[in-house]
Amino acid sequence: MCPTEPSPTPASGAEQAEVSNERAGAPVAVVLGASRGLGFLVARELLTRGHHVVVAARDVDEVDAAAQALREWGPVTAERCDVRDRHEVGELVGRVEHGVGPIEVLVTVAGVIQSVPAESLVLQEFEDAMDTMAWGPIHAAMTVLPHMRRRGRGRIGTVTSIGGMVSPPHLLPYATAKFAAVGFSDGLAAALSGTGITATTIVPGLMRTGGHVHARFGGDPAAEYAWFATVASLPVVSVDADRAARRIVDAVLAGRPMIVLTPLAWLGIRVRGLAPATTTRMMGLMGRLLPDAPARAGARTVDGAQARRRLGSPIVDRLTTLGDRAARRNRG
Ligand SMILES: NC(=O)c1ccc[n+]([C@@H]2O[C@H](COP(=O)([O-])OP(=O)(O)OC[C@H]3O[C@@H](n4cnc5c(N)ncnc54)[C@H](OP(=O)(O)O)[C@@H]3O)[C@@H](O)[C@H]2O)c1
Repeated sequence: MCPTEPSPTPASGAEQAEVSNERAGAPVAVVLGASRGLGFLVARELLTRGHHVVVAARDVDEVDAAAQALREWGPVTAERCDVRDRHEVGELVGRVEHGVGPIEVLVTVAGVIQSVPAESLVLQEFEDAMDTMAWGPIHAAMTVLPHMRRRGRGRIGTVTSIGGMVSPPHLLPYATAKFAAVGFSDGLAAALSGTGITATTIVPGLMRTGGHVHARFGGDPAAEYAWFATVASLPVVSVDADRAARRIVDAVLAGRPMIVLTPLAWLGIRVRGLAPATTTRMMGLMGRLLPDAPARAGARTVDGAQARRRLGSPIVDRLTTLGDRAARRNRG
């Protein structure tokens, strides 16, 4: 069902026509949240393993442009879909099952990140996070499962986060949603035991996807951006996203129940397992080092590009060089 050998170079010119023809019966993979960043790289990786990949996200122009870029590697179908809306997810799955082919692989990557001190949070931020990163994977998996059950096979991957195992400071809505996603995906993997269908819980630590450009920043947005974008771009602390995408696709196709993607994430999970209360106190201390909420903070968050302009710091620009480079490469 799932070819596994990666072929790192894209097909080009006349070879591309051959790729499309050769792949007439290619297994179909759907990647939700694939217009940039990690989802884009996961889609590319699935193409190199011989899949026909359906890429989806909310911004139709961005998803079309991503599909265009990915066609170098094989057959791609672009779809608009908001994972927060179960009807849209249902319609997408129906269109793919009837128009493209049976869905063999589903990977839900879609995510939003808001870096905001707890005092400046509003309920809307929790709703956005929960709808996207808790309900999104549930909508996707529960919609595709009846089709996979009929066939007695399928691979489901859910990108969660180390933030779903240890709750980091200033990321409360994110952690709330990711803890839910871990619970759902892990329980699903157990529930599917013996069915021929597998669910993989993907637990990345920080990766250089370029996601800091689209993350939302609140409280003192410029100061939030300064710490978050820097940490997300530093070597050792954050890992190369291309390699992460390869390992994710390996794990999903192999039907592994869980994959933890960075050494720091691995360590964080073990420390919390051994000493949960101490870990929470450590997170509290880390939080005290992060920017305070200003007394008159507005409730609005701004995206990374705006926060960076407000900050205007050549030093932070220098420290985020690797992250910015990743953003350019991964359509961020
Ligand atoms: N970057 C990291 O260090 C890191 C670490 C751990 C976990 N993760 C997780 O990895 C995933 C990808 O992160 P990233 O850094 O690549 O983020 P990113 O660059 O912001 O990409 C997010 C993707 O999800 C799509 N998306 C967002 N909301 C959506 C919705 N409601 N419906 C459909 N698509 C939606 C976006 O497109 P549209 O906005 O057009 O919809 C975009 O294609 C996220 O789940 C994130 O939490 C990332």
